[in-house]
Amino acid sequence: MDREEIRTKIKETAEVATISAVAFQTAQLLRNPDVAVNKITEIVGLDQSLTAKILRLVNSSFYGFQGKISSLSQAIVLLGFNTVRNVILSVSVLKSFSSDKGCKVFNAGKFWEHSVGTAFVAKNLAEHIKFKEPEDAFIGGLLHDVGRVFIVQFLRPEMEKIIDLMIKEDIPMREAEEKILDADHAWMGYVMAKNWHFPPVLCSAIGLHHAPNGQDEEFLLASIIHLADIICRGMDLGCGGDDFVPDVSPAAWRELSMSLEDVKVLIQKTGENLYQIEEFLAILRS
Ligand SMILES: [Fe+2]
Ligand SMILES: [Fe+2]
Repeated sequence: MDREEIRTKIKETAEVATISAVAFQTAQLLRNPDVAVNKITEIVGLDQSLTAKILRLVNSSFYGFQGKISSLSQAIVLLGFNTVRNVILSVSVLKSFSSDKGCKVFNAGKFWEHSVGTAFVAKNLAEHIKFKEPEDAFIGGLLHDVGRVFIVQFLRPEMEKIIDLMIKEDIPMREAEEKILDADHAWMGYVMAKNWHFPPVLCSAIGLHHAPNGQDEEFLLASIIHLADIICRGMDLGCGGDDFVPDVSPAAWRELSMSLEDVKVLIQKTGENLYQIEEFLAILRS
């Protein structure tokens, strides 16, 4: 299987893979700040279980409105479009995968713990350096490894080979992906995000999270997610596929202009978020 074949397969599965049609449509609508709230509630209302989970999430301790939000339109007013869009995407992306137990060695529960953990670290980091869209950092963190969801769901025999090679040669999963598929999960995540019509900066950040580069905001967001992924690995929060803790890219470190002291603050803040991360995951999985 080569890159073109993988690209075609991603396209074919774009709407069923990991994201429901309702969530896809809603995410599209929510990109337009002028869209009417009732248009959104109408569409989301078509998916009862999605609506119920969104309401549980927006009432969780993370958002600080415990038990006070009773409808989707109220959630949009109180939390804003971007946050509600992220909640919808989070619920939807996990929905199709949560019933999947992964495969040998690749544990779906641990994978999503890593993804939600990275989302929290990325958002904290974005706020710390005053990045203008912390919500983009959250969704970028949540979905940075989504290419692996695609491999597990749609390229299962190849995933088994990747895992065998990773164990046999004691190499990071990403290297094994390159050897077996001639492409890695970051590139696949980029293609998926493009198919979902995510903002270009978010697509690039997913694609570049292991080797940040580029211009301005694109470089900065990729660097945020890169460091968030490494911090999460260092903290042993879930497992994104392997237990390696890679070095921070010097280019990303320069782009973020942070100190080690800043990293300590972030680790501490994320430690304080552990309860919220667990609560977030429990609702998504329910
Ligand atoms: Fe990754
Ligand atoms: Fe990761």
